[in-house]
Amino acid sequence: MLTPWEEVNRSIAEVAYQTFGNCDVRVPSPCGLVIFGASGDLTKRKILPSLYRLHKHRLLPESFFVLGLSRTEMTTDQFRLSMQVAVKGEYPNDFNDTQWQEFGTKLHYSPIDYGTAVSYQQSLREEILRLEKEYGTGRNHIFYLAIPPTLYDDVIFNLGNTDLTRQDGGTTHVVIEKPFGRDLDSARKLNRLLRKFFEEKEIYRIDHYLAMETVQNILMFRFANFIFEPLWNRRYIDHVQITASETLGVEHRAGYYEQAGVIRDMFQNHLFQLLALSAMEPPARFEAESVRDERMKVLHSILPFPLDKLDVHIAIGQYGRGEMDGKPTAAYREEPGVSETSTTPTFAAMKLFIDNWRWAGVPFYLRSGKRLSAHRTEISIHFKPVPHRLFSQTLNEPIEPNTLILRVHPNEGMSLILQAKKPGSKVYLKPLILDFSYQRDVLMDAYEWVLLDCMKDDHLLFVREDGVEQAWSLLTPVINQLESTASLRGFPNYAAGASGPHEAALLIERDGRAWRPL
Ligand SMILES: NC(=O)c1ccc[n+]([C@@H]2O[C@H](COP(=O)([O-])OP(=O)(O)OC[C@H]3O[C@@H](n4cnc5c(N)ncnc54)[C@H](OP(=O)(O)O)[C@@H]3O)[C@@H](O)[C@H]2O)c1
Repeated sequence: MLTPWEEVNRSIAEVAYQTFGNCDVRVPSPCGLVIFGASGDLTKRKILPSLYRLHKHRLLPESFFVLGLSRTEMTTDQFRLSMQVAVKGEYPNDFNDTQWQEFGTKLHYSPIDYGTAVSYQQSLREEILRLEKEYGTGRNHIFYLAIPPTLYDDVIFNLGNTDLTRQDGGTTHVVIEKPFGRDLDSARKLNRLLRKFFEEKEIYRIDHYLAMETVQNILMFRFANFIFEPLWNRRYIDHVQITASETLGVEHRAGYYEQAGVIRDMFQNHLFQLLALSAMEPPARFEAESVRDERMKVLHSILPFPLDKLDVHIAIGQYGRGEMDGKPTAAYREEPGVSETSTTPTFAAMKLFIDNWRWAGVPFYLRSGKRLSAHRTEISIHFKPVPHRLFSQTLNEPIEPNTLILRVHPNEGMSLILQAKKPGSKVYLKPLILDFSYQRDVLMDAYEWVLLDCMKDDHLLFVREDGVEQAWSLLTPVINQLESTASLRGFPNYAAGASGPHEAALLIERDGRAWRPL
């Protein structure tokens, strides 16, 4: 008998199978997961809780171990305890002592000096070989770099020089987190270093937005329904908006965020990937390379931003003091770890065009920011108005065009806004919302998907070398120009709890359109 969870996965598989004739929901082959940075935030908040849930739902291989590595001296027992606390904290309702006992014994820990080759050649190598034997995982390893990017060079170089990554009949996967570089040059350099030691098929660049349930569903929705695809083009679509707004401020991440800013943090990866999925052509097959080829073509078709008219295409902002949930909140420049004169943008809005047959002339408006009035990620497709005002004699108001909203987070699902007659004798239209919501409790978290897919050698949810570089090549000149003029921007220029700076509203209003309210 299947558990509800297995039922869900089976039904996802069935839908996918019916749609594309190819879907893989098998439990992965035996493997060992080696986490660099195992004492860190990502391991505690995402990687281990996701692995625990996969274990709980019997989606991990029987032969499986985790080896945590970081500088911090601790024993395996201490590591297990700290992970137990972390998992319980993340999923208090999902936590089960018996399941944890089973899972926890598969966790191991060793301290490591990231920069010393001998740590890899000797102690790490010996420990992995011992665990491989104990768990019968064969030479199948996933190396997850959950470390700050400043450590990538040392770890990739030292790891790549061991024979652990040149297995006999096994597999090596290297997982890299965002940010992947901070501009085109650094991304290229990192790709070159990775490719010196690993093949592209062994590299998994995470963009966890791609693994969110509704994001994965964009392809199903577009290509498994007959009614939308014929309309999905410049003839019927007026414009597209992509929003990723946060209510949180910079929290404890000032060290990273001060160096990054919103364009590196959100646009180069997540927003561009959402854009690529929304705008891509149907792939030849539902498999990683075909889908990644199509996503890549969209990025290639984005028109470069005109640097001499950047203000027409991009508005940036930084939050000042304001109010969230009725409580006063600090300005970005007052947050711990942030410079009092910081010019780091915490908000950006962009207008861009995809120069191809399907989308020529259709503007895509993207926006993302911190300390905004709502926490929301969504893609909204704004259709053109009806061509003939049949009801003009009886209706005073213009007819609102249809809008399709793909809600990525929260309240995952989609809505279609139509116009319908309000009951009564007069001709009076009102918006009718057709709404579909996923039930939150059956969703797999994005990190569960990426871990599972990585174990199954499936690259569909990961970003390819050329995709990363193309996104950086579009944004690097923009970031450079914005950074060189940042002191002139008059930051802060929006209040915490508002919907962004005035310049962002102007960006779209100049075109006779408006942002969807947050
Ligand atoms: N946290 C998130 O939600 C999140 C989300 C998306 C992407 N990421 C990415 O995932 C990676 C890990 O993020 P994280 O938040 O877990 O990072 P973190 O907590 O700051 O660091 C991870 C581990 O790396 C080691 N470390 C940190 N700074 C170091 C230094 N200067 N020298 C040597 N070791 C150092 C620390 O372990 P030891 O001191 O014990 O060695 C730390 O536990 C980063 O690339 C980040 O950008 C994180």
